[in-house]
Amino acid sequence: MQWPHQVPGLAYGGDYNPEQWPQATREEDARLMREAGVNLVSVGIFSWAMLEPREGEYDWSWLDQTMDRLHAHQVQVALATATASPPPWLTHKHPEILPQTAEGTTLWPGSRQAYSVSSRVFRDYALRMTQAVAERYAGHSALALWHVDNEIGCHNSHDFSDDAARAFRRWLEKRYGSVEELNRAWGTAFWSQRYSSFEQILPPRAAPMFVNPTQQLDFHRYSSDELLSYFLEIKATLREITPDVPVTTNLMCTTRSKNMDYFAWAPEMDVIATDHYTIADDPLRHIELSFSADLTRGVAAGEPWMLMEHSTSAVNWQLRNRSKSPAEMIRDSLAHVARGADAVMFFQWRQAQAGAEKYHSAMVPHAGTDSEVWRTTVRLGEMLQQLAPVRGSRVSSPVALLFDYQAWWAAELDSHPVNELSYPDEVMRWYRALWKAGVTVDVVHPGTVLSGYRAVVVPCLYMVTDHDAAAIHAVAEQGASVLVSYFSGIVDVDDQVRLGGYPGAFTQLLGVRSEEFWPLQRGEECRLDDGSVARCWSEKTQVPDSGEGEAAQVVTSYAEGPLTGSPAVTRRTVGRGAGWYVGTQLDDAATSSLMEKLLLEAGISAELPSAPRGVEVVRRRGASSTGSEVTFLFVLNHTEAEVEVEASGRELLSDRAVTGQLTLAAGEVAVVREHA
Ligand code: GLA
Repeated sequence: MQWPHQVPGLAYGGDYNPEQWPQATREEDARLMREAGVNLVSVGIFSWAMLEPREGEYDWSWLDQTMDRLHAHQVQVALATATASPPPWLTHKHPEILPQTAEGTTLWPGSRQAYSVSSRVFRDYALRMTQAVAERYAGHSALALWHVDNEIGCHNSHDFSDDAARAFRRWLEKRYGSVEELNRAWGTAFWSQRYSSFEQILPPRAAPMFVNPTQQLDFHRYSSDELLSYFLEIKATLREITPDVPVTTNLMCTTRSKNMDYFAWAPEMDVIATDHYTIADDPLRHIELSFSADLTRGVAAGEPWMLMEHSTSAVNWQLRNRSKSPAEMIRDSLAHVARGADAVMFFQWRQAQAGAEKYHSAMVPHAGTDSEVWRTTVRLGEMLQQLAPVRGSRVSSPVALLFDYQAWWAAELDSHPVNELSYPDEVMRWYRALWKAGVTVDVVHPGTVLSGYRAVVVPCLYMVTDHDAAAIHAVAEQGASVLVSYFSGIVDVDDQVRLGGYPGAFTQLLGVRSEEFWPLQRGEECRLDDGSVARCWSEKTQVPDSGEGEAAQVVTSYAEGPLTGSPAVTRRTVGRGAGWYVGTQLDDAATSSLMEKLLLEAGISAELPSAPRGVEVVRRRGASSTGSEVTFLFVLNHTEAEVEVEASGRELLSDRAVTGQLTLAAGEVAVVREHA
């Protein structure tokens, strides 16, 4: 990881759009940034049309002044390539750069991100803009980090235009080498789909019936790779001009951003940055936040990362947006820090007066500085300064939860046994159980080295490689408790079913064999023999008593319906560990009690056993100046009552000693540097 140049301690700031404001406001901004302790801002993200008002004519004046002013106020800049939205003169001159939907609808300008990432014309213009910005500000003392484009693929990830069709064909030729191999992988003997040349292949455009599933899956893969190749072209231009300035782009590591395989992108980024927004109508939105932060840390391979955007209060793009209390704003920020963020940034610095985001909160709200949001912004700045010693420390966990974008794409393809299965919902069911048990989780790719984890949770890993399935089996042999949930191991990387019984790749590990899926209907419930309730999914599962090693034991069976008496949950001893199979969708209570059994077996207890329910506890570990280990205990009270937990050390936010007992008011956060 390369940290943005000259940013001391934890980074604090947000997107800054001075081009939308008059001079007097810009002057005030710099002064207020100092007051709030801001040390990093992202500038120029949507400013192409302002910087290049006519083709080849540049107006750098406002950006020159901004860079100088910010530097004079000790604020560093994550400078954008300004490519996130092409200017009107460009789309007017070259309408062929606009992206198209599967139905052939053009996505017109007038909003943002109206470009096809596969258009060579667009890329050349974007590279020219990148080069101009980089040459202009190379060597400027305020330049800390390059911010490529913005949330690449947020609105235009799947483009079905003719340019995209050509790029898709090139990608397929590279993947398969020959059209025969593509025919094999795609199973084109079905429905007269056999191709005799790559030229005949199209993106999965709107069609009379289900489009070939492997074609759809490959289009997902291609689209993610195509967006990454755009990032890489821009990065190469930046590297050439400013070899020492780190390059990043803001990812969207959340349960809602499906279309980019960030595990494949991560090695290409100098530092991982992400954006996160909580969902107003989710009462457990703080747990989704924790998951997203843990996923970001997984993408960052455990290294500290940057929270590039979140919100001080309400956003403007949900059905009913929710404002945050000052305590919630602080908890949201520090929950990210607890889970490995070394930067806390917002969208945006000053709330807009015009445009589609004028009702999105910011650090300086419409109400001005005589406001709770501003006072909290200043307070948060102070807190982050008090937390400077945390920078560089790491989070570690005994539990891995496997998460795979490609398995997500495959699991949610159409024409499946249940066509409203949500991969993130299944992942979150297990994550919530771990969160409620007070256990920190590493959310990692299935290809990660798993040895060292005492428990491995594998929710709905529908598609898995032979290699990864073998590694999951091996970690159980070595002593881990591995839990696999339904619709896992079913297909290979070509989305072709592994024959012989479900769950295909995991039948040996788990010692089970399902002959048939038995989906439950909407609203239908099925009681299990331990009183718990199953929904959505069931399977006709057997536990064969012969085979290699020990037979699986039935933990719970169906107590009603056509599968009465067949196993729903099983456990098998595997080497020094175990393989648990959950062939149905358990409700939250049953998921939690099963998770408790698994944690007990794996010898894993809560991060802080004295913490009551609803209190989030995470540790970051680092090295002190003398090289000895130092731990930071983050305690976030999400409840509405004062709580007491056991802790000893120095509480950094209040700079007070804690001796044995820490009292935390409702909604508050404490960070204790623990005694060795
Ligand atoms: C994204 C974008 C920002 C802004 C925010 C609003 O994260 O990157 O430009 O639109 O959403 O929530």
